[in-house]
Amino acid sequence: MGAGDRERWNEKWSSVGTGTDHRSPLVELVAPWLPDAGRLLDVAGGGSSAAVEFAKQGLAVTVADVSDVGLSKAREDAALAAVEVDTVEIDLEADPLPAGPWDVITVANYLQRELFPTMIEQLAAGGILAIVIATETNLERSDKPGRPFLLDRGELPTLVPGLDVLHHTEDWRPNGRHEAHLVARTS
Ligand SMILES: C[S@@+](CC[C@H](N)C(=O)[O-])C[C@H]1O[C@@H](n2cnc3c(N)ncnc32)[C@H](O)[C@@H]1O
Repeated sequence: MGAGDRERWNEKWSSVGTGTDHRSPLVELVAPWLPDAGRLLDVAGGGSSAAVEFAKQGLAVTVADVSDVGLSKAREDAALAAVEVDTVEIDLEADPLPAGPWDVITVANYLQRELFPTMIEQLAAGGILAIVIATETNLERSDKPGRPFLLDRGELPTLVPGLDVLHHTEDWRPNGRHEAHLVARTS
């Protein structure tokens, strides 16, 4: 990852600002399988409201992201909601994933295919992996995100070999994006 990526995301999260509430589809997606307690890692979750929602629901949440501004936003949003989240500033293309075992790992809107085996390894027994990423079909309506950030159609389940897939759908969503949604569990 270039330093430019961190700067780009810092700029983006600065412009979004603390307290902005856009409800992540992750929250609804994983709800039927979310444990009442345990350790949750939100991968590339800087700036997202999902981490705060999970902390409000009783999980011990860690957000890992390269953007220090996004991570500050996550902490500030958590404080506004009277909960806490841990944050880890990390370049996921260069640094190891924060050590598990994690009861839940979530990823939204960040595609790094080589991270999947590590995420699976770091799940606890019975641990849940929940993913939301746009697919190439999204290009029919929008040129962003660009192709490198999009899944192939039907690809997501192939990235979680050995896990039990509990839920997988690919469709146009209320947010206007064509997304793959997946929840899988270690057996
Ligand atoms: C599209 S945003 C998604 C944020 C959040 N998951 C959500 O759905 O709102 C992508 C996130 O990935 C982070 N990111 C990009 N490259 C990264 C890298 N190499 N290591 C860690 N985080 C990275 C960015 O800082 C940004 O917060």
